[in-house]
Amino acid sequence: MAGAAGSPEKTWSSRTAFILAAVGSAVGLGNVWKFPYEVGAGGGGAFVLIYLVFVFAIGLPVMIAELLVGRRGHAAPPIAAETVAAGSQRHKSWAWLGWIGVIGAFFVLSFYSVIAGFSLSYMVETVTGRLGDLTPEASVKHFTDDIGGSFAIVFGWHTLFMVLTVFIVARGIKGGLEQAVTYLMPALFVLLVGMVIYSLSVGEAGKALQFLFQPRLSDLTTDNILQALGQAFFSLSLALGAIMTYGAYVPRDYSLPRSAFIIAAADTAVAILAGLAIFPLVFQYGLEANAGPGLVFITLPLAFAEMPGGVIVGGAFFLLLSIAALTSAISLLEPTVSWLEEKRGIARAKAAVWGGLAIYLVGIGSVMSFNVWSDVTFWRGTVLDNIDFITNNVMMPLGGLGIAVFVAWFMNPEAVRSEVTGISDRLYKAWLNLLGFVCPVALAAIFFSVSGADRL
Ligand code: PFF
Repeated sequence: MAGAAGSPEKTWSSRTAFILAAVGSAVGLGNVWKFPYEVGAGGGGAFVLIYLVFVFAIGLPVMIAELLVGRRGHAAPPIAAETVAAGSQRHKSWAWLGWIGVIGAFFVLSFYSVIAGFSLSYMVETVTGRLGDLTPEASVKHFTDDIGGSFAIVFGWHTLFMVLTVFIVARGIKGGLEQAVTYLMPALFVLLVGMVIYSLSVGEAGKALQFLFQPRLSDLTTDNILQALGQAFFSLSLALGAIMTYGAYVPRDYSLPRSAFIIAAADTAVAILAGLAIFPLVFQYGLEANAGPGLVFITLPLAFAEMPGGVIVGGAFFLLLSIAALTSAISLLEPTVSWLEEKRGIARAKAAVWGGLAIYLVGIGSVMSFNVWSDVTFWRGTVLDNIDFITNNVMMPLGGLGIAVFVAWFMNPEAVRSEVTGISDRLYKAWLNLLGFVCPVALAAIFFSVSGADRL
């Protein structure tokens, strides 16, 4: 079959390429935009602490399981899940597990691209000095009215971002994805480290460190805890097809637990570094740490406007955010494209264009949620709020739960052991216990959470 996952062009050319691509998927808006505002709103250190526990005790085991299903099934998620299920003890159709991934990634990308578009827009505006004399009121107005309020602006940047994403994915695994991450990931790292050094040296480093690393457990609420769990999953790109699809391209001799550990550690390091880049400036300029989703787009530009050289620092920051978003977006498009390629026999470039176009069109609903449809609300809010809710609170926990239960309880145990190499028997047992007992309970908690259920 043309472009089937088994063909040599559909494997990573090196371990480094795979790790870079997977870290690229994991590191995104979730780390640089969402994590800092959730820490800010969640009270700081206590949120960070519980987040770390969730990443390593719950996210990491699920990541190993998801990579495993992808690699063993060696195909786009629905096909992979079905193939692996066919070889398991109690055969049942598990294709739905893959479908949650493909459909989830499709819808997440539809609004992810819109937020990434804001980042591109802010990058240009900062560099051209248009945000040079901002007051707090003007910054709110700028975000909600001047940028968000204009359909043409949000739509235009969404278009550009989707074109970039499609362009990379159309060029294939080696020519597109690998090439892109080889340049973009080091650039991202340099920009981030530069930002952190700058912020810690000119900003309120002490306050920021205290805020991030001195947990006051009394700050934790059930809502916070569930938020941290959901964030850990989103940030690690779990249960939405991306990691399963990337797993399909992993050669048999790479150790999945080791790779997953590196990916999770790198993703977490970037989230913490993003916090270290942002909070010293927030405290230095007397801004609100708990500003919510507007932290990066409304609060931070105030600091850039005031500081010397803010045009460069701010421009670099939004470039960093845009790069992070792009390497995640390609992993959100890949599940759809690999399915179109493998199941429908459509050539990659065409599959990328058609898949990207469909996502782009759905994304217009999210574009309009900021302007012409900002008053059109139902169930959870705007179109964007609804898509966000369904993907994050319904599909993601359900997909994660399915992966954990399938691998721990339904797959042939010898098959599982043969995939999970490079760790001792003790660690293997610990992994299996976390996957079979702890992860399902945690994921069911997000799914049935009071905050989620009463909105259903
Ligand atoms: N992990 C990405 C982020 O933190 O922004 C978002 C993401 C990418 C979620 C891919 C899910 C996914 F499958």
